Amino acid sequence: MDERIVTNHELEADKFEKTIRPDSFDEYIGQSDVKENIKVFVKAAKIRGTHLDHVLLYGPPGLGKTTLAHIISNEMESNIKTASGPTIEKSGDLAAILSTLEPNDVLFIDEIHRIPRYIEEILYSAMEDFKLDIIIGGEGQSRNIKIDLPSFTLIGATTRAGDLSSPLRDRFGIVCKLEFYSDDELSEIVKRTSRVLNLKIDEDAAYEIAIRSRKTPRIANRLLKRVSDFALVDEESTITLKLVKKALKRLKIDESGLDNTDIEYLMSIINKFNGGPVGIESIASSIGEEVTTIEDVIEPFLLQEGYVKRSSRGRIVTEKTYKMFKINNQKTLFDYE
Ligand SMILES: Nc1ncnc2c1ncn2[C@@H]1O[C@H](COP(=O)(O)OP(=O)(O)OP(=O)(O)O)[C@@H](O)[C@H]1O
Ligand SMILES: [Mg+2]
Repeated sequence: MDERIVTNHELEADKFEKTIRPDSFDEYIGQSDVKENIKVFVKAAKIRGTHLDHVLLYGPPGLGKTTLAHIISNEMESNIKTASGPTIEKSGDLAAILSTLEPNDVLFIDEIHRIPRYIEEILYSAMEDFKLDIIIGGEGQSRNIKIDLPSFTLIGATTRAGDLSSPLRDRFGIVCKLEFYSDDELSEIVKRTSRVLNLKIDEDAAYEIAIRSRKTPRIANRLLKRVSDFALVDEESTITLKLVKKALKRLKIDESGLDNTDIEYLMSIINKFNGGPVGIESIASSIGEEVTTIEDVIEPFLLQEGYVKRSSRGRIVTEKTYKMFKINNQKTLFDYE
């Protein structure tokens, strides 16, 4: 494929994300506990005239971690610099990023759990004492140098808080877990995005998109965009419930909001492992996904919604799943324990 075309596509997607991304607490819908707490900490930091304590945001993909990091920096009236765990491969990479910081900057590190451990250690003194503590040279000539850094706020985002080492985790003064959204909150998000994009949408149409979005704003916004394509082609000026239903049917989005991968995961446990219990590695190889993808992306929603349970012997699909697939489950309750 022509590389330029790929780049343009990405740019277009980025632009779309930026247009619809809320940029203040007032526009950030839901997550009320997290939001209210952070508001207090931001206010306190501003009253004291100091930097905000380091913040760790964790939770499944698409729930608004990156968005919240940008909002925090806006509300602090700080500049934000961004980096991503996987691109920090050498200690020099991190040192280079840290040395660009200016007083009260926000440094946002996405996927922070993917920074290699030995590099992570550089963050400890940077976060605690605002000092860059690095070893230069080698072969018996190495020496330790300490460089003063300005005070800054590190905001780390991760889908796997459990993968952070405890010394790193302990250096975040503010740790927030983002939760899945309620249907009402998602419906508000769909309506807000419609306003931003100048789309007219009926109340029940917005709600229908909400309930089929896996409780995730990113998915709700994506579905809205696809549905708006149908509206455009059908020359409909308003997105109605009828149009949403038609579009979602064409897109093969299940009534419960489960996507193809969710269904493949659940069906694999039922068909290949007799409903479980089955170990995650076996499911992973049967559906060709990484264990980490299953744990971070697929399972959090399915566990929360009770489609699957975790037991000491592995994953087990629940009665709810059998009912949804209209499969008669012949196991007795006794078989589950
Ligand atoms: N609370 C919210 N209110 C309104 N829109 C939101 C909210 N949270 C997220 N969004 C929208 O959902 C999309 C995904 O959010 P974001 O990119 O911040 O998720 P993320 O948690 O960083 O995901 P990932 O783990 O994949 O990096 C964005 O387009 C954003 O505009
Ligand atoms: Mg993100």
